[in-house]
Amino acid sequence: MYGAATEARSDQLLAFAAFVQSASGATEVATGGERIQSLWGGYGELVRVRLVGASRATVVVKWARLPAHRFGESGASHERKCRSYDVETAFYERLSARCDDSCRVARSLGTRVRSGEWLLVLEDLDEAGFARRTREPRGPDLAACLGWLASFHARFLGQSAEANGLWTVGTYWHLATRQDELQSAARRDPTWPARAAALDEKLRAARFTTIVHGDAKPANFCFAANATSGAAVAAVDFQYTGGGPGIVDVAYLLHGASPEATAASLDVYFTQLRAVLPGAVDAAALEAEWRALFPVALADFDRFLAGWHR
Ligand SMILES: Nc1ncnc2c1ncn2[C@@H]1O[C@H](COP(=O)(O)OP(=O)(O)O)[C@@H](O)[C@H]1O
Ligand SMILES: [Mg+2]
Repeated sequence: MYGAATEARSDQLLAFAAFVQSASGATEVATGGERIQSLWGGYGELVRVRLVGASRATVVVKWARLPAHRFGESGASHERKCRSYDVETAFYERLSARCDDSCRVARSLGTRVRSGEWLLVLEDLDEAGFARRTREPRGPDLAACLGWLASFHARFLGQSAEANGLWTVGTYWHLATRQDELQSAARRDPTWPARAAALDEKLRAARFTTIVHGDAKPANFCFAANATSGAAVAAVDFQYTGGGPGIVDVAYLLHGASPEATAASLDVYFTQLRAVLPGAVDAAALEAEWRALFPVALADFDRFLAGWHR
């Protein structure tokens, strides 16, 4: 029925349809949903499901499930992946409703976690007006992404990621979960372990911390088809959301940009951030700290890349 990436059994498909139907309030869900894409590493898929008799025409379902041969598997990559779906579920259950138009996310209609299976029934952002994608946001699109990050970081400033079920340290490249990659980087350049530890320590020592998106690349933003009113952008993919200084999201988004473009984008980010920070926050101190951490965050991501391109 749904062209499963990892051979879903018929009982799984029936349970899937029943859950989507009840979460979305539909009288029926149409068979043959459109597969948007397979999830990374064959861990499931993302499907657009047509509804009958509901207030909305479609929902998007992120359906992650362990391939049968991976049950009981261990290893850093597998554990990181399973935890990432727990984290994304926690984000939608606990924090998504606190994100308004200034850091727009898909509404969560229902979540279900079983052993080795995660179902997230989400508002279809295309249907909500965010149908445009771009791999290289510039001008107003880039400003919208930076504004989204500024609002998100301001909103969750000082809040505990751990207490909300998220990664203690956000981002998919953070050092503690990337020891295999570090070893691989060290084989080519033995100075990496000491440098990596120093960079990580500086980021961990930040006085101003918040909840970071953790994978804020252009592909995880959905842009308004015509942004005349309301939000210009919405974000998806909260698998690596967790604690940290907000600037790590900005460094990742801007990684590879020219120095001039980077300087201009940082100004856009901090202008937007200052506009939405709570009055009690020492904005000057926060900006000074995060600006100083920007090159550290870039180098920390480079540390991951150095071990990833084997
Ligand atoms: N709720 C949604 N509405 C519309 N499109 C979505 C929604 N969720 C995800 N997408 C689209 O599907 C893509 C993949 O989803 P994502 O959650 O990022 O999965 P992955 O973990 O495989 O990257 C996104 O980049 C986005 O274009
Ligand atoms: Mg994604």
